[in-house]
Amino acid sequence: MAISVPRRTKFTLDEDRIPRAWYNIAADLPAPPPPPLHPATHEPIGPADLAPLFAMGLILQEVSTDREVEIPDPVREAYALYRPSPLYRAHRLERALDTPAHIYYKYEGVSPAGSHKPNTAIPQAWFNRQEGVKRLATETGAGQWGTALAFAGALFGLEVKVYQVRASYDQKPYRRMLMETYGAQVVASPSLTTNYGRSVLAETPDSPASLGMAISEAVEDAATRDDTKYALGSVLNHVLLHQTVIGLEAQEQMALAGEEPDVIIGCAGGGSNFAGLTFPYIGRMLRGEASYRVIAVEPEAAPSMTRGVYAYDFGDTGHMAPIVKMHTLGSDFIPEPIHAGGLRYHGMSPLVSLLKEDGVIEATSVHQRACFEAGVTFARAEGILPAPEPTHAIKVAIDQANEAKEAGEARVILFNLCGHGHFDLSAYDRHLTGALEDFEYPAERVAEALTALPRI
Ligand SMILES: Cc1ncc(COP(=O)(O)O)c(C=O)c1O
Repeated sequence: MAISVPRRTKFTLDEDRIPRAWYNIAADLPAPPPPPLHPATHEPIGPADLAPLFAMGLILQEVSTDREVEIPDPVREAYALYRPSPLYRAHRLERALDTPAHIYYKYEGVSPAGSHKPNTAIPQAWFNRQEGVKRLATETGAGQWGTALAFAGALFGLEVKVYQVRASYDQKPYRRMLMETYGAQVVASPSLTTNYGRSVLAETPDSPASLGMAISEAVEDAATRDDTKYALGSVLNHVLLHQTVIGLEAQEQMALAGEEPDVIIGCAGGGSNFAGLTFPYIGRMLRGEASYRVIAVEPEAAPSMTRGVYAYDFGDTGHMAPIVKMHTLGSDFIPEPIHAGGLRYHGMSPLVSLLKEDGVIEATSVHQRACFEAGVTFARAEGILPAPEPTHAIKVAIDQANEAKEAGEARVILFNLCGHGHFDLSAYDRHLTGALEDFEYPAERVAEALTALPRI
């Protein structure tokens, strides 16, 4: 006998609704974004300059201005392991907050790696395999991206080497074990396996490390081996492009729910999950078809958009990767070891930065203790344990719901729950026992780090 469900909690789509094309926001921008520059010559770089690091199929996506970029069938088949991901209406959180707001979240934690990161790891591995690449080198902050690339490497038969930021390597041994189970080789960064890593360790043997340093190690690894390319889990245009499957599906699912969001929220480290959910909506705004309030949330301890400058800067600490125009705290920035490891990056994606600069999106920053509190409220209402990164989006979604209550408004809020926190239980434990601290990045240290900006 069929059970009648009085109200719907999950809005799901069949496998044949996995998008056939990614959405490319470059087609709708009023002007082209400032070009990336070569780290040594400071001249604009073209596809040939990027070829030692990336597969040509990905480079062409990086510079494409086509609105739709076709998703190859083998990538859609691999996506079918977990896509389309569910959209939830957070009835129980709404009740707990006693708010008239309608809260929806797109849940990317259903992927095998536990986050949105396989949305780009899978096509990156596939395009590299198509071009005969045998091995990929990458960095990981939270361990989520490294896990995603290790999984994608296993799917397509590529070797994967992961430089895991020391703080996360120490905080999250189970992430390393999962990457190794998928077949990847993992070292703590800075490591003794690259010239750059050895130079950092010689100067500061107990360096707490940063994502910028781990990127330099992975870039050096790829640039010095013929069989290896580099893979980046965020920031670049093609990575954000791949993530748009999130927003494209969400638009169909919100239509099933019969609602349009008023406010759309994502946490932002390098900008990829935020862009993935919001770019298809921002595209509608840029084409004059709709209007939304779009909010990117970053940690107070790494506030690139809210406290940094919009300038050309190095993407990595060793100055080997391209120089891009973005919101930055300076490439020497070493963040405090907050538990949202994926948000501890000195810069922000150039596309997200441009939208912030043009006033299309807003940015705000929050402290980690308030985020964990929001994560616990969410877990107790909805049952899902969020990764520390999306607790930043949850905190702002809850603030929005409380504001809606005060205003007596049935505001529709949509946020990206971009990963689960099953490997982050020790961070929750520290929160529950009152051992977590808040860190505000001191203004003098921001000013100091910014003195190393390249002179363009
Ligand atoms: C679960 C999760 N969310 C968010 C991020 C931040 O990256 P991005 O801003 O590119 O989504 C990471 C990065 O590792 C992550 O693992």
